Amino acid sequence: MSFAVAIDGPAAAGKGTISRAVARHFGFAHLDTGLLYRAVGRAVLDGSGPVSAARDLDPAALENPLLRTPEVADAASRVAVIPEVRAALLDFQRAFASRAGGAVLDGRDIGTVICPGAEVKIFVTASAEVRAQRRLDELLGRGIAAEYAQVLAEVRARDDRDSSRSAAPLRPAADAVVLDTTDLSIDEAVARATEIVAARR
Ligand code: CDP
Repeated sequence: MSFAVAIDGPAAAGKGTISRAVARHFGFAHLDTGLLYRAVGRAVLDGSGPVSAARDLDPAALENPLLRTPEVADAASRVAVIPEVRAALLDFQRAFASRAGGAVLDGRDIGTVICPGAEVKIFVTASAEVRAQRRLDELLGRGIAAEYAQVLAEVRARDDRDSSRSAAPLRPAADAVVLDTTDLSIDEAVARATEIVAARR
């Protein structure tokens, strides 16, 4: 039986960590849909056209750790405004969401566009300052040089672009539970999300 958990929210809100932990807890599969857009963004930086890169996307490309750089995040949010790019990635995401045994998908439009009928929808958010600090720690931890002011500016620019685009803008679904992680530790945020999912199973 399928059971879809949609986890959306702005950059560096903690979606990835929460989604992985929820998937592990319930034995569900997990798809970080941001990686799809990052892989297309990476291909565009390498000279491909965005729509053909999205249509030809090889899921094996999602494993590339080089997709997690600020440069690729920025390129991802630029290709993500293109409706044909989003359309090309739709079937893969929907098929993943309906797989037997349950699935967690995290992104920007999972609860609104990809899985409007998801059994659980969580919108994870936090202040831009806290999100920038978390992303800074993550980048430094991976050995990528970065400084706070620049990371905050990049997070804000990407949030603006993701929220103001006409194709699948970032916003909570009407029936999403909003989880503000500004003052929560990661363990607390994971515990809340797990409770929300458990209550609907
Ligand atoms: O990890 P972080 O939240 O910083 O970014 P991500 O989830 O990897 O997403 C990178 C970019 O892809 C976002 O800024 C969005 O523009 C785009 N994206 C999207 O449009 N729709 C999704 N479902 C997931 C990501």
